[in-house]
Amino acid sequence: MKPLKVGLLGLGVVGGGVWNVLSRNGGEIARRAGRSIEVSRIAVRDMARARSKVGDAAAITTDPFEVVRDPEIDIVVELIGGYTLALELVREAIAQGKHVVTANKALLACHGNELFAAAREKGVMLVYEAAVAGGIPIIKALREGLSANRINWLAGIINGTTNFILSEMRSRGLSFEAALADAQRLGYAEADPTFDIEGVDAAHKLTLLASMAFGVPVQFDRAHVEGISKLAQEDIVHAENLGYRIKLLGITKLRPDGIELRVHPTLIPEGRLLANVEGAMNAVLVHGDAVGPTLYYGQGAGEEPTASAVIADLVDVARLQGAAPEQRVPYLAFQHDAMADTPILPIEDVRTAYYLRLHVDDQPGVLADIARILAEAEISIGSMIQRPHGDSGADIIFLTHQAVERDVNRAIGLIEQLPQVRSSVTRIRMENLA
Ligand code: NDP
Ligand code: HSE
Repeated sequence: MKPLKVGLLGLGVVGGGVWNVLSRNGGEIARRAGRSIEVSRIAVRDMARARSKVGDAAAITTDPFEVVRDPEIDIVVELIGGYTLALELVREAIAQGKHVVTANKALLACHGNELFAAAREKGVMLVYEAAVAGGIPIIKALREGLSANRINWLAGIINGTTNFILSEMRSRGLSFEAALADAQRLGYAEADPTFDIEGVDAAHKLTLLASMAFGVPVQFDRAHVEGISKLAQEDIVHAENLGYRIKLLGITKLRPDGIELRVHPTLIPEGRLLANVEGAMNAVLVHGDAVGPTLYYGQGAGEEPTASAVIADLVDVARLQGAAPEQRVPYLAFQHDAMADTPILPIEDVRTAYYLRLHVDDQPGVLADIARILAEAEISIGSMIQRPHGDSGADIIFLTHQAVERDVNRAIGLIEQLPQVRSSVTRIRMENLA
């Protein structure tokens, strides 16, 4: 059978990994795909660097549109990133009737609805296994393996850079800056690492997961996004002393009144498997009504783990190229005319437990005042500790039972007005994940 001709846009961390793995495992991959997969054209900015990697084995250009418009190319692999040039290229590839593989979660989280509609109209595949959790086949699991289930919720560590930073800060006492520099050197971080640190990359991925879990359009603009840049080392230590770990989690839950969609630092009990996912590893816990909890774990970033997912998509395209579009797995797991309009809930409606740290004057009556405010806001205290802090001051930490975020905000506002409270309240959400 004729080889599948691939046009590769980008030969950086992921593109380079795709080249290496296809070169090394080409024979094995062809046995699975039923035909060989050949990268015949590559677009980059730096021709000399690309040439030193691939030699004369593929044509190289600095004009990615040449690749996208080449009639010899069956499938375009977009590994440039971002949503300006990448958006134009993917639009054009689809318009040219080409299948597209991408690892670009930012592009799909922000423009997925438009691109999937265009791909459907043209009858082409637009696949993105590498866009969420690197090498873990979580999209395959959600779109195919779990299709019998009503998904109740999922929670995941879906950004390798921030998990790496948190792990290094906790276990090796590294500073935030030093850990970030290591993550960048190892190729985990986005071109703009604020996307990692501020939770945006995780929210891009979570948005896609929620769409596949619940059959709703992609709605990144409705996600609640908080990163790790404001996390204090002392809270990591307090959490550990209390039997918890802090992880940047992406959480989405289906409730009778809507969908929770949120990324934020989260305390989870140290015995949970997710709490022990370290370094750049990712893990996604999916709860389906029939299957119960299932956990997917693996390398969430880096050259070859991500290439593994890109090439799995290439194999799918090679196998399904001739199939009628309606016989293929739907882009977002659900048939396009069966998507639901379930609302995404605002963060104020979220119901979860909380870690609250207050820096107060160590005086009689302070605790009673705070406890009264919490009680009046219907926030029940699960446990409390007090530690001396500074001159005649103390840190009080409350772990609450589940409460509604709106009530917690109101209580925090009142607590911060108490004259004995010295600084703003630190609030970190907690999940039991049972
Ligand atoms: P890199 O920055 O390492 O690579 C980007 C590539 O795109 C480079 O080869 C670069 O060329 C090329 N490029 C950039 N602009 C142009 C242009 N105008 N014309 C032609 N080529 C261009 O990015 P990554 O490989 O890390 O990421 C690629 C995508 O994969 C992103 O969407 C990212 O979010 C996603 N991703 C990354 C993961 C990772 O671990 N790194 C994991 C999962 C997904 P040149 O080499 O000449 O500079
Ligand atoms: N920057 C991303 C991360 C790459 O750290 O997880 C993988 O998507």
